[in-house]
Amino acid sequence: MLIRRLTLDDLPHIVDMHTMAFPDSFLTGLGSYFLSVYYCAILKSRDGLIVGIHEANVLQGFASGSVRSDGFNSRLVLSNMVEFVPIIIYLAVFRFPALLRLFRNLSKGELHKDSYQVGELASLCVRPVSQGKSYGRVLLQEFISESRRLGVQKLALTTDALENERVIKFYKSAGFNAHSSFVSYGDRPMLKFERTL
Ligand SMILES: CC(C)(COP(=O)(O)OP(=O)(O)OC[C@H]1O[C@@H](n2cnc3c(N)ncnc32)[C@H](O)[C@@H]1OP(=O)(O)O)[C@@H](O)C(=O)NCCC(=O)NCCS
Repeated sequence: MLIRRLTLDDLPHIVDMHTMAFPDSFLTGLGSYFLSVYYCAILKSRDGLIVGIHEANVLQGFASGSVRSDGFNSRLVLSNMVEFVPIIIYLAVFRFPALLRLFRNLSKGELHKDSYQVGELASLCVRPVSQGKSYGRVLLQEFISESRRLGVQKLALTTDALENERVIKFYKSAGFNAHSSFVSYGDRPMLKFERTL
């Protein structure tokens, strides 16, 4: 088993993994070109962090987020305008509700105005056929250790509040506490979890 920070060379595998692990998610619905631009921006960002786990040279899962969540997504878009602007124009013309939802989705991290350095775990996923083999637990621990090493004092994440007991239990067992709740697009109740590092 090999755990390491992922790089631009891993981008196609990250996009495939996201699509497999989150088949019905809003971001997957925006298409693989959007996912490539989004994850490429995170990989290039000084404040982005993606760790992955490999077994037999195959990516089994990854944990992605930022080590400075305040304003992170805005900085991602502003630093990659050439790539994001065509997507924004396409969505504005053909899928305007999706554009509004994307802005709402990406502004979640802007909530973390805090005197601490707050990081955010935005996505954690394991290849569907490899789930239940502890890769998720190992990835979460690695994301926590790497965040701590990079100066993060508090780590935040959001997840669905309903019909999500296993994932909620998983985060609680890793030391995360439910901090607040909010309603996301489409009346979707969400929980925000935090853990001090
Ligand atoms: C949630 C997820 C990352 C867990 O990774 P995993 O490698 O399957 O989990 P592990 O084997 O490390 O097990 C850790 C805990 O995860 C939970 N878990 C295990 N398999 C799971 C599954 N298929 N779905 C949801 N939770 C699962 C269990 O609570 C388990 O604890 P337990 O051993 O006490 O039962 C993984 O199942 C996944 O990618 N699911 C789809 C995407 C997702 O929901 N991501 C999290 C929200 S952002």
